[in-house]
Amino acid sequence: MPEAGPVGVDPARFRQLMSRWATGVSVVTTRHEDRDRGLTVNAFLSVSLAPPRVLVSISTDADALPALRASGTFAVSILSATQRSLSQRFAGRVTPEEKFAGLDVHRGRTGAALLDGAIATLECRLVQEVAAGDHALVLGEVVATEEGEDAAPLLFFRSAYAEAEPDELLRLPRGRDPR
Ligand SMILES: Cc1cc2nc3c(=O)[nH]c(=O)nc-3n(C[C@H](O)[C@H](O)[C@H](O)COP(=O)(O)O)c2cc1C
Repeated sequence: MPEAGPVGVDPARFRQLMSRWATGVSVVTTRHEDRDRGLTVNAFLSVSLAPPRVLVSISTDADALPALRASGTFAVSILSATQRSLSQRFAGRVTPEEKFAGLDVHRGRTGAALLDGAIATLECRLVQEVAAGDHALVLGEVVATEEGEDAAPLLFFRSAYAEAEPDELLRLPRGRDPR
């Protein structure tokens, strides 16, 4: 039987363990003083239906975090399977200008960049931030949404990108909650 460490869990092992939790992939963007910022985020979840609230967990080192706080708004673009390169771009250690160079985006109510080709976008007003170790838990109230491309999602599992078979997804009944 694997032994638990005497003084807690090693961060690298913890990361590896959590990589077994399969997720979608999103790009969180914000706009402050006419500058776009953004990063790839898979720590994204819906936390409340009424009012509609989501949570994103953002590293305290992330370049976008101060801008997100200052603007008080952010957007989440949920990536399609064909947008793997955008996930890589927004996870890269490059300048904000390089992240957005030549990118096809449109703007909604908050002014944040919404990535063209995303399978859905949500725009949020920052309502609460909770410090959580080396990340900030950012709670947003959803103020606008868009259904985007009817495409398969980009998935992330065991530190690698994965794609679900589109046929399996398209077999879901349209317009109804699959229960
Ligand atoms: C698939 C994937 C998911 C990620 N999820 C998160 C996340 O949920 N929160 C976070 O802070 N960083 C996450 N990252 C890492 C950031 O995208 C990355 O550190 C980025 O470079 C931060 O932007 P910055 O360098 O401009 O600060 C993820 C990276 C990848 C590839």
